[in-house]
Amino acid sequence: MNYKEIIKKLDINKLPKHIGVIMDGNGRWANKQGAIRLWGHKHGVESVRAIVEASVEVGIKYLTIYAFSTENWTRPEDEVKGLLKLILDSLIKEVDALNKQNIIVRFLGTDLGLSDEYKQKIEKECEKTYTNNGLNFNIAFNYGGRLELLEGIKTIAKQIQENKISLSDIDESIVSSVLYTSGMPDPDLIIRTSGEQRLSNFLIWQSAYAEFYFTDVLWPDFRKKDFVKAILEYQNRQRRYGGSK
Ligand code: IPE
Ligand code: IPE
Ligand code: MG
Repeated sequence: MNYKEIIKKLDINKLPKHIGVIMDGNGRWANKQGAIRLWGHKHGVESVRAIVEASVEVGIKYLTIYAFSTENWTRPEDEVKGLLKLILDSLIKEVDALNKQNIIVRFLGTDLGLSDEYKQKIEKECEKTYTNNGLNFNIAFNYGGRLELLEGIKTIAKQIQENKISLSDIDESIVSSVLYTSGMPDPDLIIRTSGEQRLSNFLIWQSAYAEFYFTDVLWPDFRKKDFVKAILEYQNRQRRYGGSK
């Protein structure tokens, strides 16, 4: 089935509200071509463009892509530098097109390790989209699920210290509200490419009841058809949330 044929099979009343994507396999893709890893990352940008377009066409409200983890700093300096530059350059290049499609672009992650200049440049581009109300396109960047929780726990502790809340006020909704995804629905579907089957510190609190979809396709080869195929499979899953049926 091609992209259009799969879309026809989708039940628009059962769309995932929020899809998370762990874009993996860029290095292996480049390796197969005898090229350096950055070549794979570069080609991955085209796949991002494709799934953003598909999300708009299908009517997905939230899309979160995993672009750079807090653990990715351990990679060789050349690759880290190249990735940071590629992410900022791609944002600058694409932001007008994203804006025209009524998309809100947000970066989710920590400030740690980033220069003020870099952070300001990202913020300046994202701000242009904040008055839009179409697809919420989140880029998990310098993101780690454990660090997100840790920062959130400190925020809550501070609120207690300042007598803004009391211990008995802390519930799941308070925890959710101090995370980078505050106010957003939890992901219903998490897609990971390249055959790896793990979370790698992505949205660990939020994906408690997410459905997982794994594919062997390497990220730079991932296209709109692959994306809607994952949504179709999601729609055939039975979500039980611990209940019985
Ligand atoms: C995903 O591809 C991109 C990032 C993690 C930034 P990888 O760079 O992890 O590629 P593989 O997994 O080594 O093939
Ligand atoms: C996860 O991929 C991080 C991103 C996709 C940005 P990795 O390639 O870094 O994960 P591991 O090391 O295989 O778990
Ligand atoms: Mg990888």
